[in-house]
Amino acid sequence: MDKQSRYRELLSQIEVFANADDNPISVLSNCAAVMKVVFPKEYFWVGFYIVDGDELILGPFQGAPACTRIKFGLGVCGTAWKEGRSLVVEDVEAFPGHIACSSLSRSEIVVPLFSDGVVIGEIDIDSTELSIFDDVDRKYLEKAAEMIATFMAKLTKVD
Ligand code: SME
Repeated sequence: MDKQSRYRELLSQIEVFANADDNPISVLSNCAAVMKVVFPKEYFWVGFYIVDGDELILGPFQGAPACTRIKFGLGVCGTAWKEGRSLVVEDVEAFPGHIACSSLSRSEIVVPLFSDGVVIGEIDIDSTELSIFDDVDRKYLEKAAEMIATFMAKLTKVD
């Protein structure tokens, strides 16, 4: 299956998981798991960081143990939060301040989760291959982030 078809499959599964429960740990865990299942080789590490005050804290993920807290503006994740946009990093070693959770990571994509225009968390994906992520990944992952952020936002809304 080509990359676009795999992303379409991924989006339909994320839509199911985002509506299957109201517990963020369970929903984000299944979303991370299905992302790893659909892209087992391309995604060396895939998971969520969630905004907590002036830090991102590690959420559900698939892959090797990772750093638990990242400050606003630091690393690829903290920079994507500060700039409020997705970042595609072709070579992590060329990114100033990159935080190396694993020495095997070579490239990375970070996509923010927005609620009312505010970053509430992020999808973070690392690959062991250089330059593996492009605009196709960004476009589909932004759609996935939108579905997941809508789910997260519903949890905090008071009617
Ligand atoms: N590389 C990230 C840190 C998180 S790990 O990749 C899982 C960064 O520079 O923010």
